Amino acid sequence: MGSHLILFTFTTNKIVMHIIITGASSGLGKALTEAFLEKNKDNHIIGISRSKTITHPRYHHITADLSDIDEIKNLHISIPDSEKKCLLINNAGQIDPIDFTQSLNVHALAKHYHLNVLAVHAMCSKFLTATENKAHRHIINISSGAGKYPVKGWGAYCAGKAAVDMLSRVMAEEYTDVGVWSLAPGIVDTPMQSTIRHTPEEAFPDLPRFINYHQNGELVSAEQTALKIIALFDHPEKVKDVVISLRDFA
Ligand SMILES: NC(=O)c1ccc[n+]([C@@H]2O[C@H](COP(=O)([O-])OP(=O)(O)OC[C@H]3O[C@@H](n4cnc5c(N)ncnc54)[C@H](OP(=O)(O)O)[C@@H]3O)[C@@H](O)[C@H]2O)c1
Repeated sequence: MGSHLILFTFTTNKIVMHIIITGASSGLGKALTEAFLEKNKDNHIIGISRSKTITHPRYHHITADLSDIDEIKNLHISIPDSEKKCLLINNAGQIDPIDFTQSLNVHALAKHYHLNVLAVHAMCSKFLTATENKAHRHIINISSGAGKYPVKGWGAYCAGKAAVDMLSRVMAEEYTDVGVWSLAPGIVDTPMQSTIRHTPEEAFPDLPRFINYHQNGELVSAEQTALKIIALFDHPEKVKDVVISLRDFA
């Protein structure tokens, strides 16, 4: 298995921001990538996921399975020396496996924690090293309300998001020059929500609630959510905490 160098090789002197987004192929990650590309013609993005769905002159894709430890290890970030802004968005995530604790398969749990926790931790570590001399660096870890309260059947997802919240709080203490957010995006209309609605109720007793959210039109589009995150990123002075919910911002 080869190693991947996350290297910004775009040749322009006007780069406004180097952005690395995991899970750029679908849902919120895809919407964020497209919105950042649209917002400023000098934003350059490297996306990482198993499949590639975006083709754009300022987008470079790295195909990697972030639930595989070797593939995580083989990602190396290199950012050219400049005073420009650097942003890492750890967005890739999965909800599976969904079931009560005694029924969960250890291999499925390992893949879940590798993707939802280990990859986030490792990417933060690599990003902090690669941007050590940069003036403006920011990390947004996409978390969830499920990291703050228990949901039956979501043991792995709740525990993983709670871990990401705490990891973010630790990094914010360790690196006071870095903007670190652990951001819960709300209920977003993505393939992940469809997976949730197709889970058997015996594994996930809250199923009717999520079917209702969908039927009542309470899901927010990925595009709207992405624009709200970018608007917040443009006004970091509004953010007073590390662990935040997008719902708390107008
Ligand atoms: N949707 C919601 O209501 C909601 C609510 C709270 C939090 N979130 C969080 O928002 C983030 C985005 O979720 P989403 O709703 O947009 O889900 P989604 O549509 O299922 O997208 C998940 C993304 O993660 C990538 N991914 C999944 N497994 C991967 C792997 N093994 N290696 C690399 N990439 C992988 C997928 O790409 P590939 O399949 O191409 O690899 C895809 O781009 C997640 O962290 C999720 O927990 C979502």
